[in-house]
Amino acid sequence: MREFIQGLPKVELHLHIEGTLEPELMFELAQRNQVKIPFSSPEQVRSAYQFSNLQSFLDIYYQGANVLLYQQDFFDLTWHYLLQCHRENVRHCEIFFDPQTHTQRGIAFETVINGIIQALEKGRQELGITSHLILCFLRHLDEHSALQTLDQALAYRELIIGVGLDSSEQGNPPQKFARVFAKAERLGFKRVAHAGEEGPAQNIRTAIESLHVNRVDHGVRCVEDSALVAQLIESQMPLTVCPLSNIKLKVFSNMREHNIVELLDKGMCVTINSDDPAYFGGYMNQNFHAIADVFALTHQQLAKFSINAINASFIHEDDKQKLR
Ligand code: HPA
Ligand code: ZN
Repeated sequence: MREFIQGLPKVELHLHIEGTLEPELMFELAQRNQVKIPFSSPEQVRSAYQFSNLQSFLDIYYQGANVLLYQQDFFDLTWHYLLQCHRENVRHCEIFFDPQTHTQRGIAFETVINGIIQALEKGRQELGITSHLILCFLRHLDEHSALQTLDQALAYRELIIGVGLDSSEQGNPPQKFARVFAKAERLGFKRVAHAGEEGPAQNIRTAIESLHVNRVDHGVRCVEDSALVAQLIESQMPLTVCPLSNIKLKVFSNMREHNIVELLDKGMCVTINSDDPAYFGGYMNQNFHAIADVFALTHQQLAKFSINAINASFIHEDDKQKLR
């Protein structure tokens, strides 16, 4: 099983680049940039990663990002992730970045994106990994801030394939960003949104109906609405599911309770992803193992997750064939 998962050509569609900041790199950057962090060793950082819900994670995640100051830091962060992709046979990735996390602390938008883009280009050339970049708006901030961020993105229009929506779902429903997403759609950006992770199934409906998303990130709470489940199967709307994340953030009490295999068997376009692997205990292969270990999956089921991810990706239709 381990060999089959390792060998499977994988595509990752739900990955926050800030969530790949390993404690060792956090320490290295804190020293290099003379940023104080409230930990004395990488081990101590790891032991602080005990979360009770999404917000308790986000508080630590935004704090971690404080060590990222220069273009080189964003390059190093992204390059580390791509090397891990290479080790795990992840052939294509569509990565999220949260510009507001950085612009709010005075880091220029171009510093962030240039560092990431340079690493993605090196990944293409040296590792053969293709990629797309998705700009996420922080939903706990207001519409005005999201619109400002979208304006900043226009100078990099060709480098950003789509926009997304992340951060605290409770109290920040998708409709808060309907006008921002409408503008992004007019500008030709693809659209995704976190919905139905901690929030209700209704957020999935609103993301589809008001934000016109091409994919739903997480979406596991769809099962609370059987008509929605039927609609997701019929439309083959992709869900980018993140098993280890869901356990760490207590969306499910343990992996046996996770519904991803139930959704797969119903014929939904579900995919496996790592979300914030440095915080949740594993990259792509470990997310596959976590599910395969508990549900005794066949090779065919495992391969279907990869086929779904290829279908759900923003790869040009002509190029999808090369990955299948
Ligand atoms: N949910 C919402 N916001 C996030 C997440 C997540 O899983 N990861 C990073 N930002
Ligand atoms: Zn996420």
